[in-house]
Amino acid sequence: MSITINPTSNAGAYISGIDLNDVTVDDVEKIKAALGNYGVAFFRDQSITSENHIAFANCFGAIDINRFFTPLDDYPQIAQVLKEPEHDSNIGENWHTDHSYDQIPALGSILVARELPVSGGDTLFINMFAAYDALSPEMKSKLEGLTATHSSRHVFGGKDNTGRLKNSENATQDAIHPVVIRHPFSDKCALYVNPEFTVKVNDVAQTESEALLNSIYAHIQQPEFMHRFEWLDGSVAFWDNRATWHKALNDYPGQRRLMHRITVQGVALHG
Ligand code: OGA
Ligand code: MN
Repeated sequence: MSITINPTSNAGAYISGIDLNDVTVDDVEKIKAALGNYGVAFFRDQSITSENHIAFANCFGAIDINRFFTPLDDYPQIAQVLKEPEHDSNIGENWHTDHSYDQIPALGSILVARELPVSGGDTLFINMFAAYDALSPEMKSKLEGLTATHSSRHVFGGKDNTGRLKNSENATQDAIHPVVIRHPFSDKCALYVNPEFTVKVNDVAQTESEALLNSIYAHIQQPEFMHRFEWLDGSVAFWDNRATWHKALNDYPGQRRLMHRITVQGVALHG
């Protein structure tokens, strides 16, 4: 089998000719390069076991156990991303980047489809390299050197712990990152602010921070930078948090959707 990388015109690349139960060192290098250039790796027709989900994740770094998500009983490294028929809300409905509230944000997550609704439940991704590249030269120089504060308090803090989230009392820490980062795998520039967890651009007035974030967010949400990933049985998506935003559509009322997620640890980010 030989691995083939097919980049989309917007966000991510489809990777074929690979069995995720049995990856080689060369496959891992190619997937890292795809993440560093396109932001997400999409796979079809996989039959990855939970053991091999863990083994695959370990090829990219140590596993980061999310403190807010409920793990599987048998595999504490695997978080359940679950919506039951009786749930109204889902996980990840607003545009976001996972873990930007951590001082060392996670590299990314490997999400495996386990039970899908008959239709609906797609995930949207936006390419933060493409969004950065399309900024005007004036905007690029305005953003250079700026940092922003990220927090999980307003999202996970104070939530009832009986549901799909746990440890809401741990939603206490904030983190500061550059507004434009250089991707650890490719050194490419990417925008690193997101509507869910970024609370403020530092060292500017609150009104200016709001205006700046709103204008960046409007620019980012252009269809040209966006990919809509349809989940099929056997689909796997591996997104890089340093290069993408994502959003889980909540358009399958009364149906169950179960995904298994492993998050891989990242590194400190630099501008
Ligand atoms: C996540 C998430 C998207 C989805 O697991 O972080 O946002 O489509 N999930 O379930
Ligand atoms: Mn998410």
